[in-house]
Amino acid sequence: MTVANWPVAELHVHIEGTLETELLVVLARRNDVALPSYDPDALRELYRFTDLQSFLDIYYANLAVLRTEADFYDLGMAYLTRASAAGVRRAEIFFDPQTHLANGIPLDVVFGGLTRALADARATLGISADLILCFLRHLGGAAALQTLDAAVPFLDQFIGVGLDSAEVGFPPSLFTEVFARAKALGLHRVAHAGEEGGPDYVHEALDLLGVERVDHGIRAIEDPGLVEILRERQVPLTVCPLSNVCLRATPTLAEHALPAMLAAGLLVTINSDDPAYFGGYIDDNLSALQREFGLDNQQLATLARNSFRASFLPEAEKRRHI
Ligand code: HPA
Ligand code: ZN
Repeated sequence: MTVANWPVAELHVHIEGTLETELLVVLARRNDVALPSYDPDALRELYRFTDLQSFLDIYYANLAVLRTEADFYDLGMAYLTRASAAGVRRAEIFFDPQTHLANGIPLDVVFGGLTRALADARATLGISADLILCFLRHLGGAAALQTLDAAVPFLDQFIGVGLDSAEVGFPPSLFTEVFARAKALGLHRVAHAGEEGGPDYVHEALDLLGVERVDHGIRAIEDPGLVEILRERQVPLTVCPLSNVCLRATPTLAEHALPAMLAAGLLVTINSDDPAYFGGYIDDNLSALQREFGLDNQQLATLARNSFRASFLPEAEKRRHI
């Protein structure tokens, strides 16, 4: 087995961030949406990011091409096909309904396309996948509550809620009420924290939102007390190394916090975040780590085992993979 098809669970991937420029062009033509170029390579050339916001600006603009249920189906199927080839056996996939609602796309169109893709991928590829509905933190807590209320008729089509978009200035404390409501509805809870925001955001996500996993969490390493809490409780951290380099959350891969996080005994998993934008899928992330840090098979096996342990699969199913 090579790193390219090591069986893993992917727990931090935004379906909108898997929109490759080739599909972007197809959908733009299908729906008559203007793009700065219709050459996939030229579009990729525009992906030069200096921080999270510079990425989000392009990422949100591109999503104007997603109009119909078929578009969401094609997006979901393309990711699941590529992920399956990368060894992904289980995917817990983020999506951003507020972006699509703002573009005039009703929730039933988004759910309809994505849920059908997940069902077809299970049948044809044998991959298990579920959706996690993310709130856009820059739109605030009241908008998040409204979104959750609107999604209640679709409760059988997603397993949890998350928190993404611009981090600094939009702390987890703004979302206490909506996360409490999600818990009462029986949903899992995760949040991006400690990507650009400091360890205080990770503390808030744990203490105020009651998250079961922290997405990114790399800046937790700056706070020894927090590291001890995360280690002791074995809170999973969904780390995305190529994303962190692209968005300059770390200056270089060589300086990434991952080795320190592993050495501290944290439950770390490796993920792709927005693979169409950051230069690679989960296998590419694992290969880059292997090249940079010389990970051996035992360390790769630990990361793979962590990914299933950290997943929201039922215990019996987890054990089949571990
Ligand atoms: N951080 C925050 N929001 C996001 C990201 C991310 O890495 N990707 C897509 N939305
Ligand atoms: Zn993310």
